[in-house]
Amino acid sequence: MTIRLSTQIEGLDWLALAEVFERAPLGTRDPATLELSFRNSQSRCFVYADGRIIGAGRALSDGVLWCVIFDVVLLPEYQGQGLGRAIMDSLAEQAGAAQVMLYAAPGKEAFYAKLGFKMMKTAMAKFANVERALVRGLIE
Ligand SMILES: CC(C)(COP(=O)(O)OP(=O)(O)OC[C@H]1O[C@@H](n2cnc3c(N)ncnc32)[C@H](O)[C@@H]1OP(=O)(O)O)[C@@H](O)C(=O)NCCC(=O)NCCS
Repeated sequence: MTIRLSTQIEGLDWLALAEVFERAPLGTRDPATLELSFRNSQSRCFVYADGRIIGAGRALSDGVLWCVIFDVVLLPEYQGQGLGRAIMDSLAEQAGAAQVMLYAAPGKEAFYAKLGFKMMKTAMAKFANVERALVRGLIE
């Protein structure tokens, strides 16, 4: 099996990527919104196994001081093989910023801690759907 990382967005199968999110699991995504969010992100990483999309990640960056990473995701059968770390490394390298911020999906904090991320004492977010953020365990 050939694993390949790519930043190429043209020709991407957004329905297939939405299925990756669904199965990972990282939530149900509308393919059109997924495409817009990835197109509008400065850094993107897509992972393919034998030509089939199996993972992704994206980051917003000012190119100097900060980048914010979102949507790091892999199909379950490809998790635990170092590919999450590879996506994170690729995004940080492309972003070219000194500092990286993110919020972990509940239960995934240890993955990011392994990569050197620290819990922040004052991080805050204004969610569009506060109820959903509560249910997901993102806020108290
Ligand atoms: C979270 C996720 C991206 C991690 O990717 P991955 O390929 O499984 O992780 P890696 O194999 O690169 O792991 C890197 C290191 O983190 C550790 N790690 C990975 N997931 C972990 C977890 N849930 N808890 C503790 N440690 C974890 C690995 O053991 C490895 O440690 P090592 O370098 O000492 O061997 C992947 O599991 C995933 O897609 N999960 C579902 C979607 C999701 O929740 N994404 C996160 C959104 S914030």
